[in-house]
Amino acid sequence: MSTAYPLVHHYYDALVVGAGGAGLRAALGLAESGLHTACISKVFPTRSHTVAAQGGISAALGNMGEDDWRWHMYDTVKGSDWLGDQDAIEFMCREGISAVLELEHYGVPFSRTAEGTIYQRAFGGMTTHQGAGTAQRTCAAADLTGHAILHTLYQQSLKHRVEFFVEYYTLDLIMDAGVCRGVLAWNLRDGTLHWFHAHTTLLATGGYGRCYFSCTAAHTSTGDGCGMVIRAGLPLQDMEFVQIHPTGIYGAGCLVTEGVRGEGGYLTNADGERFMPRYAPKAKDLASRDVVSRAMTLEIRAGRGVGPDRDHLHLHLEHLEPALIEERLPGISQTVKIFAGVDVTRAPIPVIPTVHYNMGGIPTTRHGEVITLDGQGDAVVPGLMAIGEAACVSVHGANRLGSNSLLDLIVFGRAAARQVAATIRPGQPHKTVTAALCDPYLTRFDRLRHANGSLKTAAIRLDMQKIMQAHAGVFRTGALLEEGLGRMLNTLASFDEVAISDRSLIWNTDLVETLELANLLPLATVTLAAALDRTESRGAHAREDFPERNDVDWLKHSLQWLDHNRRLRCGYRPVHLYTLTDEVDVIPPQPRVY
Ligand code: FUM
Repeated sequence: MSTAYPLVHHYYDALVVGAGGAGLRAALGLAESGLHTACISKVFPTRSHTVAAQGGISAALGNMGEDDWRWHMYDTVKGSDWLGDQDAIEFMCREGISAVLELEHYGVPFSRTAEGTIYQRAFGGMTTHQGAGTAQRTCAAADLTGHAILHTLYQQSLKHRVEFFVEYYTLDLIMDAGVCRGVLAWNLRDGTLHWFHAHTTLLATGGYGRCYFSCTAAHTSTGDGCGMVIRAGLPLQDMEFVQIHPTGIYGAGCLVTEGVRGEGGYLTNADGERFMPRYAPKAKDLASRDVVSRAMTLEIRAGRGVGPDRDHLHLHLEHLEPALIEERLPGISQTVKIFAGVDVTRAPIPVIPTVHYNMGGIPTTRHGEVITLDGQGDAVVPGLMAIGEAACVSVHGANRLGSNSLLDLIVFGRAAARQVAATIRPGQPHKTVTAALCDPYLTRFDRLRHANGSLKTAAIRLDMQKIMQAHAGVFRTGALLEEGLGRMLNTLASFDEVAISDRSLIWNTDLVETLELANLLPLATVTLAAALDRTESRGAHAREDFPERNDVDWLKHSLQWLDHNRRLRCGYRPVHLYTLTDEVDVIPPQPRVY
């Protein structure tokens, strides 16, 4: 097989797969440390999905009122419904302050206060004094924060001589008796195949929102890193926790930032009632996302939705000064105009809860090392790391707070780079491996390239997306999940019958979409399996048949494996209920009231 596809070999100290916020922050840190670093991306770096992040990046800078990273930690633990690891959350909230100031120094054009410091807005679940007040903690570049960060990090990475391989699709991890030896990638532009050898491979490939029919994620958010990991026989963690953002544009799915509510926007139902105070008397429209999405779904179910089908709700900002909207929310004003035909200064925005983020992913240490379980407990997978939405550190637990995602990318991208720099010498020799190591991955690629079944990729994908939409949404029951899992296992099996019509190697989008689908299908399957297994309600996982959180049986992370014979296996890891330092106390599980 190696001769059928001649391989171009590359040797790097470290390799980053993915060029979003986490990938670029890691690549920059690696290159700054003198490591010979490559970054592979299937899209041009500044088109990575981080570009779509709107509202901002959290950090307890205290520019707009008192703040403390310990309050940020408290909010994040509570937001996670106590499933987040408290040592990792402490690390993120403490390190976040310097990581954001560093971004400012790299050149991110943040919006400014009158004093010239970084502008910060309110976001859901972000409080002062453990819930007593509202924190303005989310650092914003208008409502285009991800765009601003991504462009700055790309420029800095170029300056520090990261070597980019753009429009290369990563096919598989090259595993050698449990050690990652790099990746196999396909150059979409000229059709050549490449073996990237590296001492460490960092996966920064983002989430898998596209296994749902309607989501805020880019069409490229196909969980390629998670797909490669589960194919390599490694587990994924907490996959049942899928965040549904309260405000996607009705009918289009595009995100309308929570920053709208942070700037004073609010939701109403068909009676014109501001309904959130009934569900979250204190935080109201700025309760955590899982709470707001559930409240909206209940309003719609109760027949109080708006529109001819009473199936969505209204988000208002027409009461705000047009000048303020223009200064702080220019991006969503444009998006809403294009996708909903609404002028936000005059009329409410039609919105509906929409899939937004995966709390689950590849389990890692807080340094980014990938973890699996051996007989003794946690075991690090040598040569493999993961960061960003692809990873599950876990700082978000069962529910992520808005603006903690950009922070996660930056803090753990930097931490992973530091970890690699502490363990690898620049130019250290590579282990000699046989070319045959790559054969199984080439065989798989060749098989898919020549797939000659009876089912179109798009048909299988639609099937998967409809199942996820119907069976793994805001509210779940055992019966609904069981039926969904059965249907999904059939859809997964139907992939054996996939048909490719284009056999070429250059710009073969038919094959790219099929490879992406091959990553999405197992992720959708384990999401349903984990959701069926977890018989409690916690964070974004709301089981109507088990409406209470059950800390006695379920204060633990779930792990899911799926083997090549489509056999599922689950396991568990303890939640870290300890801190890193004595600067803060453990926050014991409490009822979660907003
Ligand atoms: O609503 C938003 O701006 C999204 C932010 C986030 O997901 O962190």
